[in-house]
Amino acid sequence: LPAERFFPANLPSALTFDDVSLATLYSEVLPKDTDLSTSLSERLPLQIPIISSDMDTVTESRMAIAMALNGGLGLIHYNLPAKEQIKEVARVKHHVHGLIQDPMTVKPTATIADVLEMIDLRRFDFRTFPVVDEAGKLVGLLPGNVVRERYKALKVAAVMTPRKQLLTVEEKRIANDPIKVADRFFTENIGIHKILVVDAADRLRGLITSSDVERITGEAKSRRKPARDAHFRLVVGAAISPVRTPDGKLDRDRIIAHVGELMQEAVDAVAISTAHGHTAGVGDMVKLIRGEFKDLTIIAGNVTSGEGVEFLARCGADAIKVGQGPGSICTTRIVAGVGIPQLTALHAAGRGAAKKGVRLIADGGITKSGDIVKALTLADTVILGGLLAGCREAPGEIMEISGKLYKQYRGMGSHAAMKAGSAARYGHDKNDAVRKVAAEGIEALKEVSGSVDDVLGALIGGVQSGMGYLGAKNLPELRQKARYIRVTPAGQKEASPHDVIEVATRSGG
Ligand code: XMP
Repeated sequence: LPAERFFPANLPSALTFDDVSLATLYSEVLPKDTDLSTSLSERLPLQIPIISSDMDTVTESRMAIAMALNGGLGLIHYNLPAKEQIKEVARVKHHVHGLIQDPMTVKPTATIADVLEMIDLRRFDFRTFPVVDEAGKLVGLLPGNVVRERYKALKVAAVMTPRKQLLTVEEKRIANDPIKVADRFFTENIGIHKILVVDAADRLRGLITSSDVERITGEAKSRRKPARDAHFRLVVGAAISPVRTPDGKLDRDRIIAHVGELMQEAVDAVAISTAHGHTAGVGDMVKLIRGEFKDLTIIAGNVTSGEGVEFLARCGADAIKVGQGPGSICTTRIVAGVGIPQLTALHAAGRGAAKKGVRLIADGGITKSGDIVKALTLADTVILGGLLAGCREAPGEIMEISGKLYKQYRGMGSHAAMKAGSAARYGHDKNDAVRKVAAEGIEALKEVSGSVDDVLGALIGGVQSGMGYLGAKNLPELRQKARYIRVTPAGQKEASPHDVIEVATRSGG
């Protein structure tokens, strides 16, 4: 059935991803020819419909850069001081493709034992480090072949290649087309695999590796287009929460000042991220920001009803996040007893979105590429948390437990995250976050999953495959053509590998 008949037919029960399957349809569309472009507002187009979640274990600048390079968007979380968040946004906007802007460095006074310990602790898979002094000036390069146990008592200064023997490139030379300059440099300087970029005062400003350049030039033809603004900078969003004065009112001055500073760094969107967006407080905040910043793309949420979407749209939001409790680390439905299974919530929200002409974002509960296909039949984009938290671009260290590698992933409504700042998202005071408040999220681990490029590559491949089955060459066609069928528990069992012993991991999530 089409959505408008299928979802009402299932009332009053509510459905989520695994309850439903999509019918295949006659197709003349090859998956590789499908177009995944979408937008969050008239002013913010994206090449792929995927956003990384504004969670403190998912999105900081590294993740946001990787998302934008793949055509999507990262939302920088707000569990960090406002100044730091603004710096994270600036890092994305100033990102030069191929340039590592904060390379790991070592001091000339460190010993090789110190360097080995750092490599072990942080699990670096490289051993060559620029050497800089206290003032940030480049004094040498520590080559990987001397970073060995047998030299552990030696000082870095004794074994490094000194500054005068190093070839460097001045920052302004790579300003226009860094990859082209670097490509030529590596061809002309046989055997050199790293370019050290310095400023006029010889301070280290970045590092370009030949392997990155080869990857970028080699992939240039097949790579998805990055999501860029009108000035060719990568796009990025930032989450903000309804900060209040001690007497409980919205702190209008602080909110306006913060958004103003984000705008100065050319942020492309702000997300007013709360657990309950259909509230006077969130509405007032959207109105406040819309009143001050006419052209800014505003994302707001979360809601699970058409009325909630209409309300936030009336206040001035461009895109509305839908989802209460579907997330992999969420306990809202258990703790508060509220929330609607995600596909039904998206369908209900869709009625409000159609009336108001706003975009919908499916936020939470996505565990595989097939879920993204289903979500995109009812929404314009999806937000991923858990599927990206194991990537090396997510914040946090990798840890080893019983021979397996993991990264931390925690709900923004977990005690630990609320203590670090996100209590306002759940309508609580940060100082009460541990003693009095019921957490609505858990702290968890995700297995390390490789790079964002790899994870998105597999997910996008799955989405394109789904579109091919439905004969949809773009996302509007996917929405229009989708026909749903209810799946029984036996049907669900049949849908996963069964009656075999699995020896290789599945792709697509
Ligand atoms: P996934 O399933 O992608 O979900 O891991 C990520 C989304 O979950 C939401 N979120 C929470 N929801 N308690 C909740 O009920 C929490 O502590 C929490 N933290 C994050 C959020 O919408 C995110 O994008």
